[in-house]
Amino acid sequence: MAADIRGVVARSRGAPVTLETIIVPDPGPGEAVVAVKACGVCHTDLHYREGGINDDFPFLLGHEAAGIVESIGPDVSSLVPGDFVILNWRAVCGECRSCRRGRPWYCFATHNATQKMTLSDGTPLSPALGIGAFADKTLVAAGQCTKVNRSARPEAVGLLGCGVMAGLGAAIFTAQVGLGDSVAVFGCGGVGCAAIAGSQLAGAATIIAVDLDPSKLTSARRFGATHTVDASTSDPVQAIRDFTNGNGADVCIEAVGNPRVMEQAFFARDLAGTLVQVGVPTPEMRIDLPMIEFFGRGGALKPSWYGDCLPSRDFPMLVELYLSGRLNLDLFVSETIAIDEVEDAFGRMRRGEVLRSVVVL
Ligand SMILES: NC(=O)c1ccc[n+]([C@@H]2O[C@H](COP(=O)([O-])OP(=O)(O)OC[C@H]3O[C@@H](n4cnc5c(N)ncnc54)[C@H](O)[C@@H]3O)[C@@H](O)[C@H]2O)c1
Ligand SMILES: [Zn+2]
Ligand SMILES: [Zn+2]
Repeated sequence: MAADIRGVVARSRGAPVTLETIIVPDPGPGEAVVAVKACGVCHTDLHYREGGINDDFPFLLGHEAAGIVESIGPDVSSLVPGDFVILNWRAVCGECRSCRRGRPWYCFATHNATQKMTLSDGTPLSPALGIGAFADKTLVAAGQCTKVNRSARPEAVGLLGCGVMAGLGAAIFTAQVGLGDSVAVFGCGGVGCAAIAGSQLAGAATIIAVDLDPSKLTSARRFGATHTVDASTSDPVQAIRDFTNGNGADVCIEAVGNPRVMEQAFFARDLAGTLVQVGVPTPEMRIDLPMIEFFGRGGALKPSWYGDCLPSRDFPMLVELYLSGRLNLDLFVSETIAIDEVEDAFGRMRRGEVLRSVVVL
């Protein structure tokens, strides 16, 4: 039976979010309903509320979540009710030209639920990133549920569902950081700190954290940064060269979403180095690079979506690393909050007071 439950909704551009009664239909073919246990507040939720992603209001926000499968559609064989899952926004299709070429992490036709969740008056909701998990329950495609070890803490491992995976994967999969590499990470919010943790896991020897906010540099050290640069008082390009024998870093990761930072990251690379862009730009942002520098320096410039992850391969593995004490996901959880506190959490995120606020249900 369709359920009436609570959900956090952004009704119009820039308006504060509200807690609404929403209706979640029973799962149809290929779908599952998940009882949400925890969901992190990501910058992308705020982008949706501000109309920065698209105009498909009203949005049901929340997309970094873990929960328990409650019911499944008639043909779903990959899940059973009671499974502990992390929700993902990359349910790969297996059939598009990228999947067929063996590169499913670039899948061009990922799955979401077919049916709509609605407000109580029947208005269809657009779930953030096809998830919508600031809610007691959510309807997703079965492939968006990745089963993981149930002994893990939902508040911590739910964060693998978006920002933490984006940062870890930017270092491990997109940049392919290797043993002994030097890495510079620009922006030490949740995503940048995850890129630092990923660089450490991959064996980087030098990890340089860059931020304007000294408190973020303190957290960056906890995740494995070996050096820090306060970009509000010193030039990060020069500082990174100074820490790398005058050469620049093998890998520079932009985790802010700012063209000026992108340029700094470009010039802070060593010859043949890799620049990875994780920060999400707005449509009007431009970068202006001398072609001779692009050519002459060699290497690679790579955007990274969701850390080029494959949830079915990576979530269970990262949860095991967490459970064995090699990946400290608890450090990302700055606070746990109730479902009616998301708007306040946006304020703390804007002021840079938290890495992640996590709604617990
Ligand atoms: N590519 C993806 O798949 C993906 C996934 C999730 C989030 N993101 C994006 O990653 C970015 C970071 O997300 P977050 O949650 O960590 O955000 P955040 O706001 O918590 O962190 C951003 C950090 O950048 C710092 N900063 C701002 N301007 C700076 C500058 N000029 N130089 C150095 N540091 C600066 C801030 O002080 C802050 O610590 C956002 O743009 C977000 O939308 C991308
Ligand atoms: Zn595909
Ligand atoms: Zn996100």
